[in-house]
Amino acid sequence: MVVASTLTTIMAAAALQPNFVFVHVDDWGYYNVGFRGNPFAKTPTLDALAEGGVILDRYYTYKYCSPTRRSFLSGRFPPHSGEDNSAASTIDYRMATIADKLSAVGYATHQVGKWHAGHFSVLQTPAQRGFDTSLGYFNGAEDHWLQIDAEDGCGNVTDFWDTDAPAFDLNGTLYGDEHFAERAVEVVRGDTPFFLYLALQCAHEPMEAPERFVEIHEDSPAPYEYAMVSVVDQVVENLTVALEDSWNATLMVVASDNGGPAFSDQMLASNYPLRAGKYSVFEGGIRVNAFVTGGFLPPAMRGTRLRDPIHVCDWYATFVSLAGGSPADDAPGVPPIDSIDQWPLISANQSTAADSREIFLATGVLLVGDWKLIATSVGKQGSNPEGKWSGPLYPAVPAVGPDTVNCSASYPCLYNVVADPRERTNMAPYRPDILADMLPRLWALYPTVFEGQPPTNLTKADVCAASAKMGGYLTPADYVAPFAFSFKEEEEEEVVVVDY
Ligand SMILES: *[C@@H]1O[C@H](CO)[C@@H](O)[C@H](O)[C@H]1NC(C)=O
Ligand SMILES: *[C@@H]1O[C@H](CO)[C@@H](O)[C@H](O)[C@H]1NC(C)=O
Ligand SMILES: *[C@@H]1O[C@H](CO)[C@@H](O)[C@H](O)[C@H]1NC(C)=O
Ligand SMILES: *[C@@H]1O[C@H](CO)[C@@H](O)[C@H](O)[C@H]1NC(C)=O
Ligand SMILES: *[C@@H]1O[C@H](CO)[C@@H](O)[C@H](O)[C@H]1NC(C)=O
Ligand SMILES: *[C@@H]1O[C@H](CO)[C@@H](O)[C@H](O)[C@H]1NC(C)=O
Ligand SMILES: *[C@@H]1O[C@H](CO)[C@@H](O)[C@H](O)[C@H]1NC(C)=O
Repeated sequence: MVVASTLTTIMAAAALQPNFVFVHVDDWGYYNVGFRGNPFAKTPTLDALAEGGVILDRYYTYKYCSPTRRSFLSGRFPPHSGEDNSAASTIDYRMATIADKLSAVGYATHQVGKWHAGHFSVLQTPAQRGFDTSLGYFNGAEDHWLQIDAEDGCGNVTDFWDTDAPAFDLNGTLYGDEHFAERAVEVVRGDTPFFLYLALQCAHEPMEAPERFVEIHEDSPAPYEYAMVSVVDQVVENLTVALEDSWNATLMVVASDNGGPAFSDQMLASNYPLRAGKYSVFEGGIRVNAFVTGGFLPPAMRGTRLRDPIHVCDWYATFVSLAGGSPADDAPGVPPIDSIDQWPLISANQSTAADSREIFLATGVLLVGDWKLIATSVGKQGSNPEGKWSGPLYPAVPAVGPDTVNCSASYPCLYNVVADPRERTNMAPYRPDILADMLPRLWALYPTVFEGQPPTNLTKADVCAASAKMGGYLTPADYVAPFAFSFKEEEEEEVVVVDY
């Protein structure tokens, strides 16, 4: 019965099921792209796709990486899916991911690039969270050329995993995003309908890029920053070429995971005209570049901009509903999804969210319509003074503004982010009525805050031991290696025997 009805659902939806490509750009500055007017950015493909697609002008994420990714994958706001950004970050083991949901309605599912959503246990890896295949790294950052990372505290390990085993023969052979582009191009030429989650490594530090991208930006204010955005541009170009035959049936989203890291000596992104950047709950940290493209987009919407707020968790219900599945995820013990289907908005400019929708951006931060309440301490974090604004061509034009801001639980700040997108004026003293409405709504959400449980209680130390056994490749602690691995599917005769 269950099987028969699932099959009926798949068949009913089959004719309409589009392919989904979600490109997650890492640490992409709001102003580090041509379509925002930046004269130094060389991003012809991104500009053409954005300008010929739908630019999402109020698209929100978390202020840093892992919570944004877990929100995308789980369909929950970050306070309901976890705000931890460490190597221990996880998606609660009881939640169904967007890949589980799409897989259930017949999609081929592929993860490529950065994961940062759990790896202490095999059960947390992409292949166990709904993806048929995966190629990428588990942690938040690594050397682009060598795939080496030290985040787990095991010393330097090679963080590179291919579905169900370390990517033994691949590390050190290409720049990270060149590996990922190659795999992405390969999987989109495979079975359809497909869901590709391509989480690129650019423009995250370390600041490294192939010379051909650096040399064309020598006259820019930050050659490596701009070079890495051009890498993204070329990956997307290569992907659209590979998608030529399936473009009409494809919906592609390109979006950043958080604002650009500005203000440090090394990371020189610009979020102009927004305030602050990565690690901040001002708009520069959480309102990021995003656009929708692909031949599946109705022609009437091409070349438009949408100003309704959309949250990264909304792709879950949007994609799953379009695929003919049910986005509800009623697992016991976990919060329900927060995601709403934004397809009526994206395909026909019909608002789907009520004006009263509470977007629970972070513990202490609530967005309702035009208003954002910050009832948590903001202050200097590392080299990111939270109160500053990027100059348009930071660092060529120095950043302006005070370093410190007086927002806290005792003295909440309130901004009308539509009338005042640069967050110049704290409206809390002028609109006590809005404050009196929003504060209790924020406090009422606190009991729902949920970090998520891992499926096992394995630790970093267990991961280090497993990684040492696997010759220095970052390996989940409970990984059981088969006696021998094939090096590559195409070269079945070539095997490496792992001694453990
Ligand atoms: C760790 O790897 C980095 C490159 O990612 C390198 O610069 C550093 O020297 C390595 N450290 C050790 C102890 O091998
Ligand atoms: C790949 O990583 C392994 C494990 O750290 C290391 O021994 C090997 O030298 C690396 N290969 C390349 C080509 O960097
Ligand atoms: C794009 O494809 C070309 C041709 O295959 C290749 O040379 C180039 O390295 C690819 N770019 C990236 C960033 O992967
Ligand atoms: C895509 O659809 C358009 C009409 O909407 C058609 O003109 C074009 O030939 C189609 N392209 C492909 C590759 O199917
Ligand atoms: C969408 O609808 C709103 C409200 O009717 C309107 O102001 C806006 O211009 C429309 N945008 C597009 C891209 O059609
Ligand atoms: C913060 O703002 C409140 C309310 O305006 C004020 O009473 C308090 O003194 C301020 N604190 C600082 C450190 O400026
Ligand atoms: C992990 O440890 C916690 C605290 O001891 C416990 O409540 C939980 O059930 C454990 N989880 C697993 C999967 O063993």
